[in-house]
Amino acid sequence: MTTNYRHEIVGVFGDPVDENPTILMFEAAFKAKGLRWRYQNFHVRAEDLGAAMAGLRAMRFRGINLTIPHKIEGLRYLDRITPEAALIGAVNTVVRDGDALIGTNTDGKGFLMALKLNANLDPAGKRVVVLGAGGAARAIAVELALAGARHITIVNRTTQRGEALAQLINDKTPTRAEFAWWLGDYTLPEDADIIVNATNIGLYPHMNDKPGVNMDSIKPGMLVCDVVPNPPRTRFLIEATAKGAKTLDGLGMLVYQGAIAFTIWTGQDAPVEVMRQALSESVA
Ligand SMILES: NC(=O)c1ccc[n+]([C@@H]2O[C@H](COP(=O)([O-])OP(=O)(O)OC[C@H]3O[C@@H](n4cnc5c(N)ncnc54)[C@H](OP(=O)(O)O)[C@@H]3O)[C@@H](O)[C@H]2O)c1
Repeated sequence: MTTNYRHEIVGVFGDPVDENPTILMFEAAFKAKGLRWRYQNFHVRAEDLGAAMAGLRAMRFRGINLTIPHKIEGLRYLDRITPEAALIGAVNTVVRDGDALIGTNTDGKGFLMALKLNANLDPAGKRVVVLGAGGAARAIAVELALAGARHITIVNRTTQRGEALAQLINDKTPTRAEFAWWLGDYTLPEDADIIVNATNIGLYPHMNDKPGVNMDSIKPGMLVCDVVPNPPRTRFLIEATAKGAKTLDGLGMLVYQGAIAFTIWTGQDAPVEVMRQALSESVA
């Protein structure tokens, strides 16, 4: 009988990283699937990312998630990146294939899966408003455009970032995009189908904060989404529900972006409900 005590290692490089709950859903998933894999939170400072990526290769980790502040800088240490990650300009998941490190971005794809599977909505032909133009907004806007959204309005406080994202979509995808400067309460276009808060407004411990949106412009036919995973029921979503809109929380996106990474790393289907349960308990 052969004996093997070695675990396959994956995890996340970030700073800060101690309170990142992703470990809970991966450890639960590995256990449910009977896999001898471990997920760890690694505190990697910005100036140490190169050494950490070399260590990942040397110790033959199967892959790694990259979170703040490494999603953009991480591109420098990869052998290949997917076309979507190249468009977004950031990676959140790396897989080692032999000696090659391949980067992808599962954030926007996770949002799309939540949209389709939890809200039963296909973004093709839809008019979208994205609040924010940071990393999450870029990933979501690019994937919505690649999925056939008709028109995307990027609403952002900082003009430069918002204009750059609208231009990226206009230049690189068939979707039409425009930038709107975020000053005071933003009034949604009447024909908007999907509204996404892709900022960190409302994130724990600032649960009373809400993005500056004229709530009277929210209509029952709209789907209002939030990327904030903790708490899942943000004040924005609670007030949108009161206006009669359907809502989609950020927990689903977090679960599905992790489920996609699980499959990339292990080659197996992810136990999505196990992962959702593990995460839900952490934010309860
Ligand atoms: N659910 C998931 O799976 C998932 C995945 C990734 C990220 N997220 C969440 O996404 C959120 C954003 O993360 P990120 O990586 O995109 O951050 P980021 O790159 O720092 O971008 C933050 C965005 O929020 C805007 N913003 C922040 N505070 C604001 C305020 N008070 N008023 C108006 N705009 C404001 C920023 O505007 P400026 O450009 O003007 O600064 C920027 O557009 C976080 O809450 C994170 O937890 C969720």
